[in-house]
Amino acid sequence: MDGGLRAPELCGGETVTGVAQIKEAVSDPLAEVDFLGRAFQDDPYPVYAKLIKETPFFYSDRYRQYFAFSAEAVRAVMVSKDFTVESPFRASRIMFGPTVVDLDGENHRRLRIALSEAINVGKNQQYREEIILPTIRERVADLKDGEAQNWVSDFCDLVPLQVMSRIIGIPDSDFDFFKRVCAPIISYLDFATPETKAAGIAAMGELVPYLDDLLAGLVEVGSFDSSIIGSYLRQQHENGQPSMVEITRHVSLLIPAAIDTTNRLIANCIWLLCDTPDLQKKLRGDTAAISNFVTEVMRYEPPIHTTLRLAAKATEVLGVPVPAGAAVTVNLAAAARDPALFDGPDNFDSERPPSNRVLSFGAGKHQCVGKNLATIEICDCVEVLLDTFADIAFAPGPKPQITGTAFRSPVVMPIIAHKFPTEETL
Ligand code: HEM
Repeated sequence: MDGGLRAPELCGGETVTGVAQIKEAVSDPLAEVDFLGRAFQDDPYPVYAKLIKETPFFYSDRYRQYFAFSAEAVRAVMVSKDFTVESPFRASRIMFGPTVVDLDGENHRRLRIALSEAINVGKNQQYREEIILPTIRERVADLKDGEAQNWVSDFCDLVPLQVMSRIIGIPDSDFDFFKRVCAPIISYLDFATPETKAAGIAAMGELVPYLDDLLAGLVEVGSFDSSIIGSYLRQQHENGQPSMVEITRHVSLLIPAAIDTTNRLIANCIWLLCDTPDLQKKLRGDTAAISNFVTEVMRYEPPIHTTLRLAAKATEVLGVPVPAGAAVTVNLAAAARDPALFDGPDNFDSERPPSNRVLSFGAGKHQCVGKNLATIEICDCVEVLLDTFADIAFAPGPKPQITGTAFRSPVVMPIIAHKFPTEETL
């Protein structure tokens, strides 16, 4: 997704109007915080804890915007009608054009209904049996037995890419093309440099005509299957909307939204499976315990830490005045470590009761539409891995690091795992 804070210039030059008049006399809580420094990237949680306690919602002169850290402040911004996602400067807007993530009001409602219909929760079981489980089993079968291998590139990144390409309705024969264009689109949104921007825009220059042709071909033969594209085309055929351009935009949006989120959470799950003694034994064969574990990883190490909102009008949060047009970085991950909501928030506890107060899938009218689908896919990954491997461990060498803040997961993760003997190997 299009997260909030990446770099000091993250607002993309957006003017934070009215802010000059209400600058705080107090010192900037972020004056000493280096968001891009290694220490913060590797472990932002001590900084979050301090901010939750001392300044849950504040204006930072250094970053020219507001920040919400406590659960109360985060929820207040996410569910308030006084804040909007609409900004012409968001990277996702520039990349895809207007989509659900950066529209509010009637257009958001209309496009969200169409997308929810296309990712119909009622189809999850069918997706699971026909696409998710077979894809996971194929990828797990390809993992090496007893040899070090980077599971980020060879497993975590591949599963959601392949699952989503099939659910979207990309023909298997075009998978290599899809995979090739996805990588630069994701890199552009993860961290925009002049090089990643150019490569991302070039990739969109290939993807858009490809999707236009694919859609036109399917319309010509009247083929509307149970894929996301099939559902969109059926809606188009029956109601005249969304438009073909909107369909192409939203299919493209799913590349960062559905792929470059689920892959990171799968990686964070595997990292915790390796880092927490006896956890693999405890979870193996226990579907309910696995589901609880995944929910706790989503709280403890969510893959998206921040998102962005703009004040649609002058308002206030926890008594702090916010002028119209001001940008607010909302820290969903900090909210999930707020001691006001969770006992011992910095402890990873796979048996912690699930809570709907975890905001890692967002809150309010922009809450994640793929939440259930992602959860099914991630739980299935953990289950199939534990059924296949007797032990999964970090390979000898430096311990892999979960890192990043806007997006957070290990970059590389060399693993050595030993498969259970099967009838063929016995
Ligand atoms: C672990 C995986 C995932 C995580 C952590 C995640 C997280 C989020 C978050 C935090 C938001 C809200 C952003 C905001 O309000 O600014 C969001 C929105 C969204 N997500 Fe997900 N997501 C995941 C998987 C998926 C999947 C699998 C799909 C699609 C199949 C998906 C589609 C979307 C869409 C379209 C939105 C925008 C909804 C709107 O603005 O109305 N996500 N996601």
